[in-house]
Amino acid sequence: MRIDRHADVSLATFRGIIDPSGDSAVEPRDWSMAMSVHAGLPSRPHLVEATSPFFGITPTGPRVTIRDLAAAKQAGIPWPMITAYDALTARVFDQAGIPVILVGDSAAMVVYGYDSTIPVTVDELLPLVRGVGRGAPRSLIVADLPFGSYQSSTTQALETSARFMKEGGAHAVKLEGGAAVVPQVEALVAAGIPVMGHLGLTPQSVNQLGGYRVQGRGEAGEVLLSDAKALEAAGAFAIVLEVVPADLAAQVSAALSIPTIGIGAGPGCDAQVLVWQDLAGLTPGRTAKFVRKYADLTTVLTTAVSEWGTDVVSGAYPAAEHTYS
Ligand code: KIV
Repeated sequence: MRIDRHADVSLATFRGIIDPSGDSAVEPRDWSMAMSVHAGLPSRPHLVEATSPFFGITPTGPRVTIRDLAAAKQAGIPWPMITAYDALTARVFDQAGIPVILVGDSAAMVVYGYDSTIPVTVDELLPLVRGVGRGAPRSLIVADLPFGSYQSSTTQALETSARFMKEGGAHAVKLEGGAAVVPQVEALVAAGIPVMGHLGLTPQSVNQLGGYRVQGRGEAGEVLLSDAKALEAAGAFAIVLEVVPADLAAQVSAALSIPTIGIGAGPGCDAQVLVWQDLAGLTPGRTAKFVRKYADLTTVLTTAVSEWGTDVVSGAYPAAEHTYS
């Protein structure tokens, strides 16, 4: 996620199949090996080999559940979450073994070209969630509730989330905020909807925060910690910590029994998330300090379409092998 999203930047455990006796009909994921790999290592930072029963190329494995994420926290096993907005990229990420895919309201900017996440609507995000779910048979799909679709009441939060679950096929929802959204989190969890929280730099509140800047410094760290505990008590299954000091994120992670998912929050979080266009080098202009670029898709795509265009102009494309008789 870019910190500055303004125009000046050019921009498991359990399978969930329960038999009539109430017992799980499927063997839990085997965590013992991963736990022995991790045993004796400092719990944070997670500088360990990428051995995990949870992350990896297992495209035919069972759908990841929130119980897997809880078990990963217990076992001290870090995991990646990535954003996706369409079926084909979701398929790639699913097959790469990414356990959790977030259909973020960052779609506002990377899909729809708005200059913040504020304008995007439920109707704009729903088809993206549907497409991601169709492309990803294994990953847990989390739908981001957009600005204005959950804040006004528990009823509004329930109605919006129900749409993402029923029409979009999401397995969980994410919303931004601390103590102020505890009633919404409680109502959703009571209705059987898994909720991911989001604290720190909450982009839907950018106007209130006065810009995309580091959150939780000084006394604000106490408030963030208390918000995190309140979300956990309300039943959230995980919390995103965006652009907060690393020591605060580590403190929050140690204080909670649910996983924290960091973005610009240092190595002390239980998991990490990035916007895929940022890590794949498709985001133009300056990216945030926390982004590591793993590819240069802008160059790859530019080269590919330029070569194709040149071939069209020269007549080299289409060739005989692309032509029907
Ligand atoms: O909308 C989004 O993509 C997000 C992640 C960056 C956490 O909220």
